[in-house]
Amino acid sequence: MALRRAVAVPREAAVSIGEGATPLVECPALADAMGVGEVYIKDEGHNPTGTFKDRGQTGAVTAAAQHGADTIALNTAGNAGQAAAAYAARADMDAHVWLAERAGYTQKAMVEVHGGELHVVEGEITDAGAGYAERMEQEDWYSTKTFVTPYRHETKKTMLYETVEQLDWEVPDAVVYPTGGGVGLVGMHKGATEFRDLGLIDDLPGMYAAQAAGCAPVVRAWDEGKSAHEAWGDENISTVLNGIAVPDPGASPMILDALEESGGGAVAASDEAILDAAVEIARTEGVEMGATCAAAAAGAFDLAESGELGGEDTVVLLNTGAGNKDVDTLRSHLGEREFEAE
Ligand SMILES: Cc1ncc(COP(=O)(O)O)c(C=O)c1O
Repeated sequence: MALRRAVAVPREAAVSIGEGATPLVECPALADAMGVGEVYIKDEGHNPTGTFKDRGQTGAVTAAAQHGADTIALNTAGNAGQAAAAYAARADMDAHVWLAERAGYTQKAMVEVHGGELHVVEGEITDAGAGYAERMEQEDWYSTKTFVTPYRHETKKTMLYETVEQLDWEVPDAVVYPTGGGVGLVGMHKGATEFRDLGLIDDLPGMYAAQAAGCAPVVRAWDEGKSAHEAWGDENISTVLNGIAVPDPGASPMILDALEESGGGAVAASDEAILDAAVEIARTEGVEMGATCAAAAAGAFDLAESGELGGEDTVVLLNTGAGNKDVDTLRSHLGEREFEAE
């Protein structure tokens, strides 16, 4: 009951396809390899369209319906666009989705399968954002874009609520999150703060932003002690991990505040380390981590090695999406490894 009152959209009105209530999978081999007490993977791959973006779009599309909208629009790295098209279909709305060329085939294809209007833009997510913004000047559409609607980070709080419940109300020492725009990280931190203020938990989990070294504006700002990021520059992006190839995350002050307030931090890993981590977890734990998502695992390895995570710590890794949504990236990494081994 407490949870129903804790999110700003009423459950009875929810545009829902059965999102949430995802498993928290204990990973003892991973904990051993990392040298920490316990590791759990919050497996968001179990959501209706295969990622945590469903939690955000159920909130945003529910709000759109409550506000009388008939068309939603956003620019996205890919998964949020697929989720938006799905929830718009469920609510009998139209959806316009702007994506960069580099977005995955699955995400592009499924926007259209759900009946959404796909706008593919040459360049990076920044260019997709410019295309979206230009069209929005002429249209009266309802935005479900990152941090334009407050309902996405509002409903992402449920990832934290569930995690704490699944740990029998123990607060993990660290939550490591693959960070692009930071919606999930900000949402989880907001959820933890509210749980603390309600007296349900005593401490906040340390929130850690994990990024790809080839696009790490949040990590750079954190390392330099800044309160906001400086744009990474599209020309400097060097990562195949689409979900976190976000060079100019406008909400970086909120992300950096969350890291500071929770006693967490930020960490960047190479694409190679990230994709290796996804493969090793698939092989040792059987969990299918998305390519982007494995930044959380590679980042946690680095944090453990540097002593930021200790031998008794309980660590939660966010597997924000299913491995099979990124199958091309994962399989081609295996191919590269096989080629180098020859
Ligand atoms: C699988 C996956 N993980 C993480 C992210 C980054 O999410 P956020 O904007 O909340 O940082 C994305 C964004 O597209 C994603 O698709």
